Amino acid sequence: MITAKAGAKINLVFQVGQLQPDGYHPVNSLYQELQLSDLVSIEKGVPGSGFSIEVTTEGLPSRHINSVPKDRTNLVYKVAEYLFGRANIPLLDLSVTINKQIPVAGGMAGGSADAAAMLVAVNEYLSIEHQISRLSDQDLLEIAKEFGSDVPFSFCGGLAIGQVRGEQLTSLPALPFETNWVILISQEGLSTPSVFARFDQLGGGTQFRDLSQLPRNVTELAEIMTNDLQEAAISLLPAIASNLHVLEDLGALKTIVSGSGPTVIGLFESGELANRAVEQLRNMGQFALTTRAGAGGAQLQR
Ligand code: C5P
Repeated sequence: MITAKAGAKINLVFQVGQLQPDGYHPVNSLYQELQLSDLVSIEKGVPGSGFSIEVTTEGLPSRHINSVPKDRTNLVYKVAEYLFGRANIPLLDLSVTINKQIPVAGGMAGGSADAAAMLVAVNEYLSIEHQISRLSDQDLLEIAKEFGSDVPFSFCGGLAIGQVRGEQLTSLPALPFETNWVILISQEGLSTPSVFARFDQLGGGTQFRDLSQLPRNVTELAEIMTNDLQEAAISLLPAIASNLHVLEDLGALKTIVSGSGPTVIGLFESGELANRAVEQLRNMGQFALTTRAGAGGAQLQR
């Protein structure tokens, strides 16, 4: 069995421009990888078993597992089809298990993380099982762009500026201080295209800033955090606004919607304060967890 992991992302800054003729919006994003990760495992299935996807979790609400497609629409299938096709090997019996920790349809690039982990896992599988030479990281990064705007970042990870659709990355050094996040997961999901469409209706957006000047401490980070999609996400799902307030009341230095939502994130001054907030949220019947900044991108799990 070959297992690869890839982390969730948050957009510390997410600026969005006007809809372009190609149906996408230019973005100016400061992406941060989180330690919160999905694991994708692949192994040869018994002959005749075909391509199968199983999804497991340790703790996400069942809605998240049930809403992951198990058929050929899942990005992990598309990634396998692409890499097997490129190697000229028929994609027959392959069994895939996705162990999810990243909320589904939550604005944290869970599907993109699975695609990025699958790129790494299949690259290794083809080398071991079929003696195909491994593709370089540079090749895999180019291929990642075919599968969605966030897949290249999920592949590279760390801290990076994402421009154009988000896929044009400039890697940055890690923030020079610890960040403690509380992730508050919504009862419902939101589809990314519908949030962008509402953003168009509302006519929002802000002047793009230079994101290369990094914050030097947690207070400066709190000051720069912003998300141009937040208003659109709240207008589709008003419960997001109360989730933001709940996190503020629990002591977050700053709260924002993650990406296209509906997950909301709070930046806390210490791990202890973040843990205490999660405990209180769970007592209120909310689903929340803590995590920190991650690094290293999609990688084999040895
Ligand atoms: O690239 P990806 O498949 O993740 O994008 C999903 C949808 O999100 C796109 O079809 C588009 O509607 C919207 N999107 C956008 N501008 C971006 C990224 C995504 O409008 N920069």
